[in-house]
Amino acid sequence: MPESVTVTDNRTGQSIEIPIVEGGVAASEFSKLLPGIWFYDPAFGATAECESAITFVDGDEGILRYRGYPIEQLAEHSTYLEVAYLLLNGELPNETELAGFTEEITRHTFIHENMRKRFLDGFHYDAHPMGILISAVAALSTFYPEAKDISDEAARHLQIVRLIAKMPTLAAAAHRFSLGMPFNYPDNSLSFPENFLSMMRKVAEPRYEADPRLARAIDVLFILHADHEQNCSTTTMRVVGSSHADPYSATAAACAALYGPLHGGANEAVLKMLTEIGSIDNVEAFVKSVKEGHGLLYGFGHRVYKNYDPRAKIVQQLAYDVFESTGKSPLLDIALKLEEVALSDEYFISRRLYPNVDFYTGIIYQAMGFPVAMFPVLFAIPRTSGWLAQWAESLEHKARIARPRQLYTGAAERPYVPLAARA
Ligand code: ACO
Repeated sequence: MPESVTVTDNRTGQSIEIPIVEGGVAASEFSKLLPGIWFYDPAFGATAECESAITFVDGDEGILRYRGYPIEQLAEHSTYLEVAYLLLNGELPNETELAGFTEEITRHTFIHENMRKRFLDGFHYDAHPMGILISAVAALSTFYPEAKDISDEAARHLQIVRLIAKMPTLAAAAHRFSLGMPFNYPDNSLSFPENFLSMMRKVAEPRYEADPRLARAIDVLFILHADHEQNCSTTTMRVVGSSHADPYSATAAACAALYGPLHGGANEAVLKMLTEIGSIDNVEAFVKSVKEGHGLLYGFGHRVYKNYDPRAKIVQQLAYDVFESTGKSPLLDIALKLEEVALSDEYFISRRLYPNVDFYTGIIYQAMGFPVAMFPVLFAIPRTSGWLAQWAESLEHKARIARPRQLYTGAAERPYVPLAARA
C-alpha cells in the first residue's frame, strides 16, 4: 500500500501524488497543483504548523511524552528542573549537568530593583496578577537589550535561563503586591519549588520551611504543565518568535494567550463553577443546564484528548496527597460527583468529553491557599520552559515568518462614497 495521497483537480483533470511523511502531507505540494487555492482550516484543527521533536501527544490513546519519556514516569521520578533541561536539550541531564543547570537557574532568580520598585509598584492595588505577569515579562526585554540578538547561541541560552528563573519571582511579586504584602527576595539555598513557596508565603520568619508534600506537589504540577506541543499559547510563542522578536516579548504574548478561560484560565473557571454549584445535590441540574446550552462544563473536553487526559489522572491522585497536608477541599466531592455524572451521560460520551488537566488543579491550588487569580500564573511558570524549548527549536529549524492566508468574504470593489452622500 503506497504511503501517499493522490489529489485531482477536476477542473483540469491534472493529478499530483503526495507522499505521507511523519503522518502529514506537505501543503507546498498541494500548492503546486492548486496555486491560489487555500486550505480552509479555522483554529488549525487539521494543520501541522511545524515539525517538532519535543512533545508527543496521542489524543485517542491518552498518551503524553516529553522527548519520548512518558509523563507518568517523569511525574513520579523527576523534578521540574530536570524536565525543563530535558525539554530544552533533548536528553535527561546526568548529575553534573543537572547540578550545573540548577546552579545557573538559581543564580538568575533575582529581578532588577527597578522592576520591583518602579514597574510593579505602578499597578493599581487590585490588578490581576496575570495582567501584571504579562506586562512584567514584556518589560524584562527592556532590561536585557542583548536578547534581541536571537542568532547568538550564548545570548539565547542566557535569556532562556533568566526567563525560567525569574518567572516564579515575578509571579510571587505579583501575588504579594495584590495582597499589599512586602516582596520576598529569592532564597537561593532552597529548591525551585521551595523557593517559590517561600517567596509566596514568608511573613516574618527568617527562613521559610515549606511542607515537603506541598513542595513536591508544586514540582509535579510544574512537570505536568511544562509542555503540551502546539496548543494556543505555544503556537503564539512560535508565531511571535517567527518575526524574530526577542524571547521576552514572545513569552509575554504566550502568557497572554494562556490567560483566556478556554486555555490556562480554565482552572479558574472550574473553581468558580464548582463554587456556584455549591452542593452535590445541584450537580445533576447543573449538567442538565450545560446540555441545554447554558455554558460549559469547565475542565472537560480537549481539542486533542478524546479518550482521557493522562495528566488529569495524575492530578486527581495528587489531590489526595495535598489534602493530607491541607485538609480536604469541600469542592472535591462536588468535582467527583460532576465527573461521575458527566462520564455516564450520553451528551459527554458521544462528544468524547473527559476531564482535562485543569479539572482538579484548581481544587489543589485553592487547598494550598493560592487565590483563584493566581491559577493561570501557576500555569505560566512551568510552561515557560516548554515555550522556550519550542521557540529555540523553531529558530534552529529556521522557521519562516508565520503568515496564513484567508478566504475573503467581504464586499467586491466599490467606489468611495463622500460623507454627505451616505444614507
Ligand atoms: N462542556 C460542554 N460542552 C462541551 C464542552 C464542555 N466543556 N467542550 C466541548 N463541548 C461540546 C461543544 O459544545 C460541541 O458540541 P456540539 O458538537 O453540539 O456543537 C462539542 O462538544 C465539540 O466541542 P468543540 O468546542 O468543537 O471542541 P474544541 O476542540 O473546539 O474545544 C475546548 C476544546 C476549548 C477545550 C472545549 O472542550 C472547552 O471549551 N472546554 C472547557 C474549557 C476548558 O476546560 N479548557 C481547558 C483545556 S486544557 C488546557 O488548556 C490546559
